[in-house]
Amino acid sequence: MTGTAHTPAAPSVPHAPPTPPAQHVVVIGQGHVGLPLALRAAEAGFTVTGVDTDEQRVKRLTAGDPYVGDVPAERLAAALDSGRYRASADYADAEGFDICVITVPVPVRDGVPDRGGIEAAGRAVAPYLRPGAVVVLESTTAPGTTEELLAPLLEETSGLAAGSGFHLGYSPERTDPGNARWTLETTPKVVSGVNVRSLLAVDAFYSRVVRHTVPVSSPRTAELTKIVEDTFRQVNIALVNELATVTGPLGADIREAIEAAATKPYGFLPFQPGPGVGGHRLPVARGELRFAALADEVNGAMPGRVADRVTAGLAARGTAVDGSRVLLLGLAYKRNSGDLRESPALAVAAELTARGARVRAVEPHADPARLPADLLCVELTYQEAAAADVVVVATDHDVFDYPMLARAAPYVFDTRDRCRGGSVERL
Ligand SMILES: NC(=O)c1ccc[n+]([C@@H]2O[C@H](COP(=O)([O-])OP(=O)(O)OC[C@H]3O[C@@H](n4cnc5c(N)ncnc54)[C@H](O)[C@@H]3O)[C@@H](O)[C@H]2O)c1
Repeated sequence: MTGTAHTPAAPSVPHAPPTPPAQHVVVIGQGHVGLPLALRAAEAGFTVTGVDTDEQRVKRLTAGDPYVGDVPAERLAAALDSGRYRASADYADAEGFDICVITVPVPVRDGVPDRGGIEAAGRAVAPYLRPGAVVVLESTTAPGTTEELLAPLLEETSGLAAGSGFHLGYSPERTDPGNARWTLETTPKVVSGVNVRSLLAVDAFYSRVVRHTVPVSSPRTAELTKIVEDTFRQVNIALVNELATVTGPLGADIREAIEAAATKPYGFLPFQPGPGVGGHRLPVARGELRFAALADEVNGAMPGRVADRVTAGLAARGTAVDGSRVLLLGLAYKRNSGDLRESPALAVAAELTARGARVRAVEPHADPARLPADLLCVELTYQEAAAADVVVVATDHDVFDYPMLARAAPYVFDTRDRCRGGSVERL
């Protein structure tokens, strides 16, 4: 064998395994819950389709207009540019999905929760359900919905069994609009599955999207967790609203009392009185939870109480509410959010309008397309505040100039305790 010049071979490198294609996530409903989730999943490396039956919304998303107050346009633009996010009004784009999250609303009409949206979404996505895929429900709903309503209709259409043919679970949403610290990513997420395999699959998805997951034993427990959280909030707000209403005439300061009570290092959480609650209603039938019903009644009476106090305050200043000019600040139900759903501020506007007041409103965070057509919306300026007979602070957005208000307005009625000054009266 003649020797041949031998160039030392390059060290052999094992072939890198081909990168698996990104998993396809479908998020049904591109609203306050679904859109942030879809964008977060795209940021985490999934290929995401946001399905929404509202074609206008899909058009706006495709054009880079996020319409949900908490989602900056730059974030949507980055997701669209990455090629990992698209919006669609066509369920056929769910074809081949690996993970599907349902975030459609459960409206409460005449005290009865309507789960038709969950049913519609389940039926529409079922034809695209493949073996091994994961379906998660996030809509706030009564315990049992995932297993009793969603599972059978997915099974019927797909011919696959929940828990073995495909994975199924529930994970409640904890969105706090306007909260910069506790975002979708930083807030612990409760997860569940119809069995251990489903729980692991659901957990594997959310573990890539949020920092901490909190597995619980069943979808029923996860559904109940959300009811516990929402009832807790509504009952506690009702409690301080009731205390404020009863103790106000006695000259006692409820806010100072709450602040003092909050120094107790255990067993107390401070909630503040205000014009009501807002946000989604609890998806439980009227009368099922007496505490929730009572809280609803107490909180629901607050806009009327605010209107009573404003009427009395105007009268004390020699102005009749009928014909008065009211500047109402904040229409959203929560500070720094543009979410108008069930907002008590809208109820305050309606109460005052019914008494003959000419209400002008300021809401910088809401989607202009969603502002009530029958309410004149203006910018907050010194002149607007000065021209009003009363400025009512309904929602205390940080962008409002409170010291200016107190200087400009002859009378400020503050339901949120943000203003100081001689012309200011607090709820
Ligand atoms: N917004 C919150 O702060 C919040 C917090 C916790 C839980 N939730 C719960 O999350 C769920 C969704 O709430 P949201 O605030 O995102 O509602 P949303 O109204 O902001 O958005 C819902 C979206 O779903 C779309 N939609 C309705 N039916 C559909 C269907 N069949 N198929 C596809 N799209 C459909 C609507 O067009 C809308 O864009 C509700 O059950 C709610 O109780 C909301």
